[in-house]
Amino acid sequence: MPQPHFVQCYEEDQAAVRAELAQGLRGRPAQVAPKFFYDPLGSRLFDAITALPEYYPTRTEAGVFAQHAAAMAAHVPAGAVMVDLGAGCCSKAARLFPVLQPAAYVAVDISVDYLRETLVRLQGEHPQRPMLGLGLDFSADLALPAEVRTWLAGHGLAQAPRCVFYPGSSIGNFSPPEALRLLRQARALCREGGPGGGLLIGVDRVKPLEVLEPAYDDALGVTAAFNRNLLLHVNRLLGTDFAPRRWRHVAHFNGGESRIEMHLEADGAQTVRWPGGERHFADGERIHTENSYKWTPEAFEALLREAGFATPRHWTDPQGWFSVFWAGV
Ligand code: AVJ
Repeated sequence: MPQPHFVQCYEEDQAAVRAELAQGLRGRPAQVAPKFFYDPLGSRLFDAITALPEYYPTRTEAGVFAQHAAAMAAHVPAGAVMVDLGAGCCSKAARLFPVLQPAAYVAVDISVDYLRETLVRLQGEHPQRPMLGLGLDFSADLALPAEVRTWLAGHGLAQAPRCVFYPGSSIGNFSPPEALRLLRQARALCREGGPGGGLLIGVDRVKPLEVLEPAYDDALGVTAAFNRNLLLHVNRLLGTDFAPRRWRHVAHFNGGESRIEMHLEADGAQTVRWPGGERHFADGERIHTENSYKWTPEAFEALLREAGFATPRHWTDPQGWFSVFWAGV
């Protein structure tokens, strides 16, 4: 039985994490980065969000892939090395294997431990397709480490085209300048491989407020729990004494910035303490926890071109809520 290969590049620096959190909490306004949503409970709450009636992105994107995968396959070269960013349970990529026919699969996530079990199972289902799990904080730097390039060369794939796969509108967490930087790095990664490579990316679109806002403020309060759970995670990481009951979930669309913003709003004045610091919050004061940018297809196409990609094209659902772009290098 062939086994996947694993490479862990990301070393979590606890002191740096605490410093980042403390600095964010002292800020005016206070902020905590959205990566801190995803502790084990937060990851399960996010899974629950994707099943909510109000949260359209996941199922809409799945519909776009189901409807248009064959058309996509006319552009994505067969025999590519598929590099899946934020792979998690790898299911979105695995569903595309039969139609995109990648020669190899590289699953990237912040921790290789998230990838181990799934990748071993997936490798069992696809014994002929070399698979590699890579633990990497690609938001800092997307370049493939030397060990991965050596592994590809060992499978005769150094010059295979590369298909970077970035679904789920995860790009929405980045501001336009940050998104541009990530896209440029994705292009550089594609250009290391043979001709024909490119980027396959899911992008959530600007749409009526009546659809956007409930997706981030659902009737069951799952997104509120997801947002508040960040406080429990910060309590463990930094040693703060946040009481989640005393924070309200706030989500609204900021039209000027074209983004959903999520905040936690203090329900009553309170002082939060941690080893070596404290922060007083006035009643109604907020902690900014997430931006989720929404794009028009025109603006995202312009961003892809600015990043150096050629001939971007996209497929969408009947309502035009979500687009999947293919952009060649
Ligand atoms: C994982 C960043 C794509 O922005 O829709 C869902 C995260 N936050 N509900 C999104 C999220 C609240 C999600 N992304």
